[in-house]
Amino acid sequence: MPSKISVIGAGNVGATSAQRIAERGYADVVLVDIIEGLPQGKALDILQSAPVINFKTAITGSNDYKDTAGSEVVIVTAGLFRKPGMTRDQLLAANTEIVTGVINNAVKYSPECIILMVSNPLDAMTYLAVKASKFPRKRVVGLSGVLDSARLSTFIAAELNVPVADISAWVLGAHGLNMVVIPQLSAVRGKPLTGLLPEETIARLVERTIHGGREIVDLLKTGSAFYAPSAGIARMAESIVLDKKEILPCAALLDGEYGIKDSVIGVPVKLGKGGIEQIVEFELSAEEKQRLYDSAEGIKTLIKQMGV
Ligand code: LAC
Repeated sequence: MPSKISVIGAGNVGATSAQRIAERGYADVVLVDIIEGLPQGKALDILQSAPVINFKTAITGSNDYKDTAGSEVVIVTAGLFRKPGMTRDQLLAANTEIVTGVINNAVKYSPECIILMVSNPLDAMTYLAVKASKFPRKRVVGLSGVLDSARLSTFIAAELNVPVADISAWVLGAHGLNMVVIPQLSAVRGKPLTGLLPEETIARLVERTIHGGREIVDLLKTGSAFYAPSAGIARMAESIVLDKKEILPCAALLDGEYGIKDSVIGVPVKLGKGGIEQIVEFELSAEEKQRLYDSAEGIKTLIKQMGV
């Protein structure tokens, strides 16, 4: 029997994630939104692509959380997104209220699920989801590093004219201006980036990665990125549902790992059926550890503002 995944929020990120997951054929998808007709219409449209793409899983749209009952993974994309000139942190107040409501409804019908957070500001919303769900921290994970690392890989591939498949990149820390890019951990066919490109070029690619989401917001003007985010979401969902145990950079609530407690940032995690099955601690220099610590402290400021 296929697994069941619910996607909350039928905007660009939610609907594209639903499409990517449905096309992979390992899970039935329920797309939920408060706007009547929107999730039903998008789900029906995706379903009508099945004869062409040849996937056999079901996809339905709903305005009622009852239809999400028994989901293995609930993906939360609901909330406002950035407009040009805004930071992700400016979404905090509005999305705190929206996400709290979503989580309460989702866990009522899927008490055993893994929650995959996408709403921004991502790290703070992931923290909120742990608190609101009262789930053990291993069952709440956020999309950050998979997306940010994909952006960095894209820029490295273009700069060096090498296939993206040859690149491994690790972006850790907050999904925001306090992102922690560690060039020493990024490599092309195992050779660290630091030996392949001059320092100024690496600094330029790092800067572009940190502002990768904003670059797209500025171009689109009426929305934020969704193709790369949904690709990251689908990969994380797949690692969970198919128990692939991939080690991926994801937002997680830390409890002493990397010397950080009670804050959420992106770190390498092993993702499987149980959610975050392990937080992997890379060997980092004192300076790199400090940058991660500072990134986590920045998130604590947002957590205080939310008052959860
Ligand atoms: C971005 C949004 C999803 O980085 O935060 O594009």
